[in-house]
Amino acid sequence: MLLFGIIGNPVKHSKSPLIHNAWFRENNINASYQYIPVENQADLQSVFEILPKMGYCGVNITVPYKNKMFEITKNAGFKISDDAEVLQAINTINFVKKQAINTDLYGFSKVFQPKQDDHILIIGAGGVASSVVFACQGANITITNRTPEKAQKIAEEFMCDSYHGDLSKLDISNFDAIINATSVGLNNEELPLNYKTLQKQTKCIDTIYNPRLTPFLEIAQKKGCKIENGTHMLIYQGAKSFKNWTGILPKIETAERLMKEFLLQTQR
Ligand code: ATR
Repeated sequence: MLLFGIIGNPVKHSKSPLIHNAWFRENNINASYQYIPVENQADLQSVFEILPKMGYCGVNITVPYKNKMFEITKNAGFKISDDAEVLQAINTINFVKKQAINTDLYGFSKVFQPKQDDHILIIGAGGVASSVVFACQGANITITNRTPEKAQKIAEEFMCDSYHGDLSKLDISNFDAIINATSVGLNNEELPLNYKTLQKQTKCIDTIYNPRLTPFLEIAQKKGCKIENGTHMLIYQGAKSFKNWTGILPKIETAERLMKEFLLQTQR
């Protein structure tokens, strides 16, 4: 049996095993995709070395190890994809081909591709936000974050604007899209935006998929905005990892059905 898995901390909340195991089954591939919790970053190097010896062909990497695993795979001489090199972060390792790639960008690009002169507000400055900024390059991006220095750093790197004032006071009426790339909303907290100024032509995107409707998306939906949560980003990044490991592009509908069932079970 071929082994795959997801490394992270915490990792048990991840829906990747649900999705990948279904894809392996429907493609008649004798494989198992497992949780690989790693508590300390100091253990990552030895985990990386031991997994292929145990029969692992590939793994996904999630928070908080995408940057550290980039370093480890690079030092090990793995072939790193160009986007991963720019972001200094990977989310997929192929032990057989000795490759390390970042499929998060692909996941986001499948969900949203801004037009050249669109004005986009990106909230957050962590790993997810960097991928979103990278995927939106070419548009007029404004990035903002609770810790302004981090937004400033990304703004300089990608040559975009940053906003360091009070988010709840920012007039958001002129943005074509607003993207939440923070964890605000995971526990049903409201993103502190100036909702009075939100216009219905603004597309509102949340990178969170659970809850399906964060308070941000709920308010935007009530305003008549088009909304999108993180489900398809998750599915498409997974599909690209699966393709890298197996050469097969898996069925998106299978993952959509499983995610819908899961979210219906857990929520209103
Ligand atoms: P990820 O890889 O998922 O992006 P991360 O690198 O830990 O994870 O980034 C989390 C993002 O959510 C950051 O932008 C963080 O803001 P800080 O840089 O100030 O930490 C943001 N975030 C988390 N909790 C927040 C909160 N309660 N209010 C505002 N922003 C928050």
